[in-house]
Amino acid sequence: MKHERILITGAGGQLGTVLTVELKKKYGAENVIASDLRVNPDFIGHFEVLDATDFDALKRVVLEYEITQIFHLVAILSANGEKDPMNTWDVNMKSFFNVLEVSRLHGIKKVFYPSSIAVFGEDVDMDNTPQDSNLVPLTVYGMSKVAGENWANYYHKKYDLDVRSLRYPGVIGYQSMPGGGTTDYAVDIFHKAVKHETFDCFLEASTHLPMIFIDDAIKATLELMDAPAEKISVRTSYNLSGMSFAPKDVFEVIKKTMPNFEITYKPDFRQDIANSWPNSIDDSQAKKDWNWQPNYNLENMTKVMIEKLELYYNSKLIA
Ligand code: SER
Repeated sequence: MKHERILITGAGGQLGTVLTVELKKKYGAENVIASDLRVNPDFIGHFEVLDATDFDALKRVVLEYEITQIFHLVAILSANGEKDPMNTWDVNMKSFFNVLEVSRLHGIKKVFYPSSIAVFGEDVDMDNTPQDSNLVPLTVYGMSKVAGENWANYYHKKYDLDVRSLRYPGVIGYQSMPGGGTTDYAVDIFHKAVKHETFDCFLEASTHLPMIFIDDAIKATLELMDAPAEKISVRTSYNLSGMSFAPKDVFEVIKKTMPNFEITYKPDFRQDIANSWPNSIDDSQAKKDWNWQPNYNLENMTKVMIEKLELYYNSKLIA
């Protein structure tokens, strides 16, 4: 039987950094090819400098390594995306079209495509937002994800390409720095706490958003990709949830271990983006179809975030 050979685009990002490690454990380091616009000097293994908006470059890598699955993680996120809408649309859509086309033409078996809570916008139930909600987003990032979900469904129905997708909530992890998203305050707050700095929050204290710890995000991704095809009833993208909280909630939990930690609230343009997104998500379809169950809540996630970032900053001080 032919080995699986995995290509990850956008491997240097928040999800890619961690997913690459897990995929190497699962498929063997020799079968995982990480790619991004810039090389990470610390990366060990196969790495290709790749602009996924360049079809020929993508095709070269796919053919050279005899790729069988692509995890397409390239995207400009919500907040950064609003700074240059046309370029955001271009990068997010063109890279995905290239992945879909190279897959169709060159025998790729499976594609993973990350969608987002950013697909939701006007006229949705903000609490426990259902799978089949109206999708009228207010950001170009959200618009690109709605379009991407439909293209995924189209390639599945029309060409039988096995594209699978998750609508990630805000992902919180310690392995990379915040990357231009609206939910990224919830990563930054831990860095500031551990560095004993005051956190200036760009959202209001009571802005609830759906979130997920990185370990759960990776678990969901691998479980979705491993599920038998007949279990996948959603070919656009699955609602996915881990927890839901507001800045004041995470602040209070951090303060239990760091009583001197302080926060100020200075909402900016990202408040409007956050206001347009759900407070919490109904992911019962994922639970039903492939037994999704998260392991982390705000309390046990906070414990891990603080432990890991303390280790990171302490070792940096020593080095
Ligand atoms: N975390 C993303 C963002 O804030 C949402 O998918 O842009």
